[in-house]
Amino acid sequence: MNVLVIGAGGREHTLCWKLKQSSKCGRLYAAPGNAGTASCATNLSIKVNDFEGIKKAVIEHEIKLVVVGPEEPLVNGIHDFFLEDPELASVGIIGPEKAAATLEGSKAFAKEFMIRHQIPTAAYAEFTAGTVSDGERYLELSKPPYVLKADGLAAGKGVLILEDLEEAKAELRRMLLEKKFGNASSKVVIEEFLSGIELSCFVLTDGKSYLTLPMAKDYKRIGEGDTGLNTGGMGAISPVPFVTAAFKEKIDKEIVKPTVEGLQKDGMPYKGFIFIGLIKVGDDAKVIEYNVRLGDPETEVVIPRLKSDLLSLFIAVHEERLGEFILDVEPQTAATVMAVSGGYPEAYQNGKTILGLNENEMIFHAGTLDSGSEIVTNGGRVLAATSFGEDFKAAVERSYLTLEKISFEGMYYRKDIGFDL
Ligand code: AMP
Ligand code: GLY
Repeated sequence: MNVLVIGAGGREHTLCWKLKQSSKCGRLYAAPGNAGTASCATNLSIKVNDFEGIKKAVIEHEIKLVVVGPEEPLVNGIHDFFLEDPELASVGIIGPEKAAATLEGSKAFAKEFMIRHQIPTAAYAEFTAGTVSDGERYLELSKPPYVLKADGLAAGKGVLILEDLEEAKAELRRMLLEKKFGNASSKVVIEEFLSGIELSCFVLTDGKSYLTLPMAKDYKRIGEGDTGLNTGGMGAISPVPFVTAAFKEKIDKEIVKPTVEGLQKDGMPYKGFIFIGLIKVGDDAKVIEYNVRLGDPETEVVIPRLKSDLLSLFIAVHEERLGEFILDVEPQTAATVMAVSGGYPEAYQNGKTILGLNENEMIFHAGTLDSGSEIVTNGGRVLAATSFGEDFKAAVERSYLTLEKISFEGMYYRKDIGFDL
């Protein structure tokens, strides 16, 4: 079976790497891919939102399954585009239809979904430009820190957590009246602040049955000790030591099962990954957010731990036979450490020569380009070095050893992944 993976990050390289190991995998393509995906797939120069371009490639290369990495094409309706086109309708798509993708595309929609299906989450209220003064009053009656969320997709920057009431009110006005995040902040969710430790839960579903993948924890801030600006993720580990069997069962019963059943009850078909961002508050788990894709860099630790054949799982999702499967998971811990460009997540330069890459190690490319003669940096996040170990400390140490042999101008990585565990 010929397969196409859409996207260009470490998540997509990891998916290609794993899919290529399947005996069922015929020709494998990535669009647009990076220098890492080029080592296990054929890169196609097509943008992730160019649905017509993707259609042409699917027909030309007789692709039977499309795995959608990032959220944007899903929120824009790529799955619906395939279903509505007679030439594409039989192609399997891993990623939900537009209706369910709204779980990531609109925070207000996700909150309403959680309330409707009694899924534990932070208390909240939503406001628009017409109700900005109600929003200010809501803030006055709330306790700090104040959590303000732009409703729509805002490239991971739409959440503000503020200590000062006046600043929170000013930011609310900026979001609603001055469109700080464009249309994404034409609606704002104000949420109760939850204090606890975060984790990422990934579910693969065919809309009827589901499999919960190994839990993971990512490290989002640029600086050690979780300081400084938010990034797309500086490292991750899986499993998560504080997730006991009992806690996992609780997550399943109170959150995962009601989520999948809620999608069914609401008539929202879902074939793909659900990424549930959780926070452990005392002994309870609450949902911070839904994403309709895999996390990055969590994928770089979760997928390598799957011993099951990923393409067989995807085919089962397409054919709605996922209920027949039991996941086979590597018990060792996986860790990944992300090497980023100097300056990231603010301005940085591309095109720096990367030296020391070794094909025998699990190095997933996040932002790289094959210039023809060398591999150069092509993004803020550049490479994720994944390793296994008896525990997260051993795994992380191995990833540091891998990264010590790699270099590019301005290269930076955190040396404290797992520090809080
Ligand atoms: P998001 O963009 O929804 O992933 O949110 C970004 C980050 O903000 C999350 O990873 C959390 O660290 C934090 N966050 C979001 N909502 C809350 C909340 N209600 N309480 C505490 N922290 C939150
Ligand atoms: N690592 C978090 C995300 O992918 O959104």
